[in-house]
Amino acid sequence: MNNEPLRFGLIGAGGIGAVRARALEKSPDCTLTAALDIDPERVAGLAGTARGFDSQQDFFESGLFDAVLICTPPDTHRELALEALQRGLHVLVEKPMAESVAACREMIAAARDADRILAVGFNHRFFKGVEVVRRAIHDGTIGKLSWIRAFTGHTGLSEFKAPWMYDKKVMGGGTLMDNGVHLLDLACHLMSEIESVNGYVRHDFWNLEVEDNAFLHITNSEGVVCDFHSSWTEWKGYRFFVEAYGDRGMAGMYYAPMRTRITTVDDKGTPVHTQRNFFPLDIFREKLFGWQVTVVETFIHEFRDFAARVRGQKGPFTAASGTDGLKACLVANTAYESSESGQAIRLPIVEDNA
Ligand SMILES: NC(=O)c1ccc[n+]([C@@H]2O[C@H](COP(=O)([O-])OP(=O)(O)OC[C@H]3O[C@@H](n4cnc5c(N)ncnc54)[C@H](O)[C@@H]3O)[C@@H](O)[C@H]2O)c1
Repeated sequence: MNNEPLRFGLIGAGGIGAVRARALEKSPDCTLTAALDIDPERVAGLAGTARGFDSQQDFFESGLFDAVLICTPPDTHRELALEALQRGLHVLVEKPMAESVAACREMIAAARDADRILAVGFNHRFFKGVEVVRRAIHDGTIGKLSWIRAFTGHTGLSEFKAPWMYDKKVMGGGTLMDNGVHLLDLACHLMSEIESVNGYVRHDFWNLEVEDNAFLHITNSEGVVCDFHSSWTEWKGYRFFVEAYGDRGMAGMYYAPMRTRITTVDDKGTPVHTQRNFFPLDIFREKLFGWQVTVVETFIHEFRDFAARVRGQKGPFTAASGTDGLKACLVANTAYESSESGQAIRLPIVEDNA
């Protein structure tokens, strides 16, 4: 494959589709050449020179792109991904990968059969603060990883623009499958192989079929524990944090606004060292232009990894694979089962690119 930008066809020109389109305009690695939405006005409203379609068949037969970027409601992801993969296209699909574990498995099998790349849009992996925590774990700054504390929350129903966003049939769950799935992915990403999940979910604030708060203890095979809370009743507005504790200190990232803290201790009884970063430029840009500027930046990094994978370059890559998308969905569904049964549940082993 040549080094021309990878050509993307966008499916779903709604809220996040429009932000993805802006990121593609700025990406040196990928470009937007076509867009499909069942609502023609949404396609027409997209910036740039991409050709718009409201017919799925015309879109797929246009020959204008090598990969699709799926930004539609989760219960449509499986069918759209399967069509793209069967036509020999690569797929980057928004989170959650699909509304069910079975759908995720079907998508992975289709990508394997077609020998195409399937990736999931867990762009939180590319937040600068997350990079600080990941590095502090991997380079040994905080010593041997012992436990993680993770939180994500927003104001729930007051945040949503359409009823499908809290419909179990479409989303597969509530806060865990919405904002929570980003943090479930980060937990799996930082802890590697997850072994068991103990979950407890509550429905009593918004009184919906799906949960408005979820509390999990996630453990890996080395005994690392993640204390996890995902919420739709966080009245301060959208925020998340991840703190990793090791036997020599801790590294934490907090958003919004973005900040990080690394605290280390050389020996028991010796003073602690703390390093804080406030990312003033990023905070200033968000104040001026909104949260989208930060998200666009994460998407550009994700596109770079995706294009490199499509070109057959060797990793390591930060972007999430289809297997990562399946793992996050599996942890959420196991938490639902665990909450029903009152028992911690062991996860099946998920093989990479299985
Ligand atoms: N990465 C993130 O941080 C992030 C943020 C928000 C949303 N998302 C995810 O992105 C996806 C879309 O969310 P949104 O907020 O943009 O929703 P949205 O309702 O704003 O946009 C969805 C668009 O898809 C179109 N659509 C629906 N079915 C279609 C089909 N079969 N073919 C073509 N177009 C179709 C709709 O007309 C609409 O324009 C969801 O999976 C959501 O979880 C991710």
